[in-house]
Amino acid sequence: MLIRRAAVDEASVLTTIALEAKRYWGYPEHWIKHWESDLTVSPEFIRDNHVYVAEADGEVRGFYALCVSGEKEHEHKAELEHMWVSPAYIGTGVGKGLFLDAMERAAALDVRDVELSADPNAAGFYTRMGAMQIGEVDSPIDGAERKLPRLKITP
Ligand SMILES: CC(C)(COP(=O)(O)OP(=O)(O)OC[C@H]1O[C@@H](n2cnc3c(N)ncnc32)[C@H](O)[C@@H]1OP(=O)(O)O)[C@@H](O)C(=O)NCCC(=O)NCCS
Repeated sequence: MLIRRAAVDEASVLTTIALEAKRYWGYPEHWIKHWESDLTVSPEFIRDNHVYVAEADGEVRGFYALCVSGEKEHEHKAELEHMWVSPAYIGTGVGKGLFLDAMERAAALDVRDVELSADPNAAGFYTRMGAMQIGEVDSPIDGAERKLPRLKITP
């Protein structure tokens, strides 16, 4: 499996993977619609952030996006904004490969902490990878409360 930077013209391929991966958890379709803008990857986003894909046999099987913030050197923080594996390859080690690559990249960028708001179904993956829960974020839907675990990892 090759991990390489995403090309700007792959925005629609990555958006499709994000949508299909989110659907893997069986959410109602109107929830997917509600989240569509968060799941959409634009060419500008790829240009401006650290977006990397896992590729094998010429096929993109998953991707991640690391968004780095912080003014000064050694004060960088990053948000792991996307981490999606195509449903056909879920549970085959693609996520682990992407995650480890993201952590190596964050360390090379002098990032102190990487944080993310996880889908509750994926939280166990991140804790398995060494992340620690630091809180919860509200993400209401259908007029009901929904909370997402907020996780942190030091690369
Ligand atoms: C969550 C996701 C990125 C994990 O990637 P993956 O390729 O399926 O995971 P891997 O096969 O690399 O698993 C690595 C380890 O994490 C564990 N793991 C994977 N998914 C898990 C989950 N959802 N809950 C608990 N543990 C999990 C595996 O058992 C494995 O453990 P091991 O090292 O002891 O064998 C992927 O399943 C996915 O895209 N899911 C659907 C969309 C989603 O929710 N994405 C995350 C948004 S925050």
